[in-house]
Amino acid sequence: MPVTFVVSTVSPTQVKTDLLVIPVYSERVLGPGGDEVDADLDGGLVAFMEQAAFDGKEGEKLVVPTGGALGASSVVLIGLGKREEVTADGLRKAGAVAAKAAHKAGSASTTLASAGPADLDMAEAAQAVVEGVLLGGYEYLEYKSDPKPSKLKRVSLLGRSGALRRGMDRGTSVGTAVIWARDIVNTPARDLSPAEFARAAQRLLRGKGVKVEVLDVPALKRERLGGVIGVGMGSEQPPRLVKMTYAPTKSNATLALVGKGVIFDSGGLSLKPAGGMETMKTDMAGAAAVIAAMSVLADLGVKTKVIAFTPMVENMPSGSAIRPGDVLTFRNGKTAEVLNTDAEGRLILADALALAAEAKPDAIIDLATLTGACMVALGDKIAGLMTNDDSWGAQVRTAADTVGEPVWPLPLPKEYKKFIDSDIADIRNTSTSNYGGAITAGLFLEEFVGDVPWVHLDIAGPSRVSSDDGYTRRGASGFGVRTLAELASRFHVPSRK
Ligand code: BES
Ligand code: MN
Ligand code: ZN
Repeated sequence: MPVTFVVSTVSPTQVKTDLLVIPVYSERVLGPGGDEVDADLDGGLVAFMEQAAFDGKEGEKLVVPTGGALGASSVVLIGLGKREEVTADGLRKAGAVAAKAAHKAGSASTTLASAGPADLDMAEAAQAVVEGVLLGGYEYLEYKSDPKPSKLKRVSLLGRSGALRRGMDRGTSVGTAVIWARDIVNTPARDLSPAEFARAAQRLLRGKGVKVEVLDVPALKRERLGGVIGVGMGSEQPPRLVKMTYAPTKSNATLALVGKGVIFDSGGLSLKPAGGMETMKTDMAGAAAVIAAMSVLADLGVKTKVIAFTPMVENMPSGSAIRPGDVLTFRNGKTAEVLNTDAEGRLILADALALAAEAKPDAIIDLATLTGACMVALGDKIAGLMTNDDSWGAQVRTAADTVGEPVWPLPLPKEYKKFIDSDIADIRNTSTSNYGGAITAGLFLEEFVGDVPWVHLDIAGPSRVSSDDGYTRRGASGFGVRTLAELASRFHVPSRK
């Protein structure tokens, strides 16, 4: 059951709620509302913090009973660390702590959105708190026979500014979109064929100001999308490509999004070992993030035209599967020799990037769970960023940093291009070098973007999290949705560098 958010001007001491969430800074400095609550409890908050050795450090929490002295049944104190150092991401994490503390409560009220330093915009703070509550409280219970979902139904943000409401609405939109992405990535591949994935996109985007076109196999053939057809033909489940268009009136620029949508990656005939396959339903996280991001553009009032392409396939071994040694011809006429059918992501992205470049957008960004090598390079929390345009790369990095989705640049050196030379085709889909696999994959993709400023995010690591942490929960993270929403909201045409 989704949580509803409201703005309430009732005071923290009076508000009727199951759980009152009050922020505390380092060294037990009470945050907004804390002093009034402490007074009504006759100094109970301060006494309790001392007894419990609660310090107000980031991530700490302490439940305090109210004995009927307040409108709230209980108070939970959440540590934020030093006041001057509180960031939007810190508030997002605090929102997650609040959501977990409120698992058994029906309603919660909080002053968290006012807890940032003076220079933190109130709308941004409120958005972060709401996102934190939604994402930290996320549970995937679809396949539990006896699910015990959180009882939290209603969260009141205490305060009275218009910015609070604006931020709350943005946070609700974006948080809901991230949840959609997590749900769809967590869905087992058996229940998410490419056709079903495309239908899910259509359902999500209905009424969201986005035109959706689904290309089926005859259309993919007609459009000469040889990579999507080639990879898709090993599966019983035929491939799709979803094209999405958000075209606000008077748009000044066009941004193109591309996402890898491999609903399951067995490796194909170059079969993965069993362990490597366990998490391969996640291989459509790029496409899921792109589709989810498209769903918030109208709500966020984005002024830029945004187009998106998500190829959707299942990579399976079979009598009709592509073989090592086969050659594919892509949308832009280039050819690739497929030496390893497990390097399938770049093959479907080649067509999608070529389609995107054909539309002559001002910039392209693709998200793809592309290489294990990127995880070797950067670990599983940080996405690799590769680009043919440093100013566009910097814009993407700023957006990602702003929303707390870490990315780090990797180079695309010309000297490495020789590693993807093919004996018989234009290029080959694996590198002849044993090293730098994330980069050679990036160099392969670069062949399909022409001269359009382009960023490739390799999200193989951060698309899944192995244990609950902050506002992510074990399983799909929804990584990239918030970066894309931020990027589209503040898009400016990159100044070619
Ligand atoms: N989907 C995988 C990449 C991946 C691996 C994502 C682990 C998340 C976790 C991709 O299609 C793949 O199989 N890449 C190969 C490329 C290789 C065959 C050149 C890889 O990384 O091993
Ligand atoms: Mn693969
Ligand atoms: Zn893959």
